[in-house]
Amino acid sequence: MIRLKHGFVACLLAGVLLLSACSGGSSATNSGNPNAGQSDDQLIYKKKCISCHGVDLQGRAGPSLQNVGSQLTEEEIYSIIANGRKGMPKFEKRLSEEELRSVARWLSEMK
Ligand code: HEC
Repeated sequence: MIRLKHGFVACLLAGVLLLSACSGGSSATNSGNPNAGQSDDQLIYKKKCISCHGVDLQGRAGPSLQNVGSQLTEEEIYSIIANGRKGMPKFEKRLSEEELRSVARWLSEMK
């Protein structure tokens, strides 16, 4: 009985670990590998942002970013990505400074 219980707890733990490993997303940091000619900013966007902002930046749960560059400066975009805002999660711990910069710069060109 005790062994069974242990097995169950271990299973739960493994599940939790797996889940957090999946959503933690440290995998975006292999910037030395230019994937099929796509730049880092777009790769980061695909991995972290597409679910809320859509495949073509058209917006889903989050607003469209298609002309975000004409509304916000690169600095403002950086700060929103880093610190979050309302429904927008913060990414300061999930992306490196460099990654935040490159996504912000890329989005600031969307006009
Ligand atoms: C969980 C869903 C979600 C994810 C993931 C997400 N966003 Fe957002 N984002 C939002 C929402 C919701 C808003 C609107 C926030 C508000 O109303 O203040 C937003 C707002 C923004 C804005 C400001 C747009 C504007 O017009 O003011 C930018 C820029 C942005 N997101 C970039 C990103 C980037 C870059 C990523 C990936 C690193 C990302 N978002 C990931 C939900 C998300």
